[in-house]
Amino acid sequence: MGGRGRFLTFEGIDGAGKSSQIEAAVAHLRRRGHQVVQTREPGGTSLGERLRELLLHQPMHLETEAMLMFAARREHLEKLILPALARGEWVVSDRFTDATYAYQVGGRGLDERRFEALERWVHAGFQPDLTVLFDLEPAIAAQRVASAGNAPDRFEREQLDFFERVRAAYLARARAADGRIRVIDASAPIEAIRERVLAAVDGL
Ligand code: TYD
Repeated sequence: MGGRGRFLTFEGIDGAGKSSQIEAAVAHLRRRGHQVVQTREPGGTSLGERLRELLLHQPMHLETEAMLMFAARREHLEKLILPALARGEWVVSDRFTDATYAYQVGGRGLDERRFEALERWVHAGFQPDLTVLFDLEPAIAAQRVASAGNAPDRFEREQLDFFERVRAAYLARARAADGRIRVIDASAPIEAIRERVLAAVDGL
């Protein structure tokens, strides 16, 4: 798997402020002349977006949730990510498999070995070239989610201890990832965050 383009992912707990920074990173890459495909998980394909709707709003068994995340990912890789990379385009995704380890393993407490098997099945040997992880205290992130004023989805309704576990799992993964995952302090002023994100992206 893989290709000539670059695969960038953005991660962090809900409310860490990924969205506006993703827009900035994509605009920056386009200014530099790259063809960029901006996408998200779960989602990114027509089937993936239907699965997203279910994952975010339909009550379900936690293992169903886990497998649907990977089902959406399988489709996403096949229909969108891998073909774009093969054409030499850059793909910027709001979340990928690190989110599954953070939310389903860290947050939900499911067995990590199951996910290693699913990951090998769905994308053996394939990882993002760079992952930017926005790190923020869950209490602050929760305030941001609340002040956005949207009806909370199944994940956003979780309590602080859930997000503490998600955050810890993300940070543990970053420590183990050999430089692939760049941690950015998301409590910094928005301009400073933007500069750090663009510097990380330029480092590719
Ligand atoms: P998110 O990306 O935060 O979108 P929005 O900003 O529109 O709410 O929402 C996706 C949710 O899905 C988020 O709460 C994390 C969750 N998620 C998982 O639990 N596991 C996964 O593998 C992925 C990709 C997402």
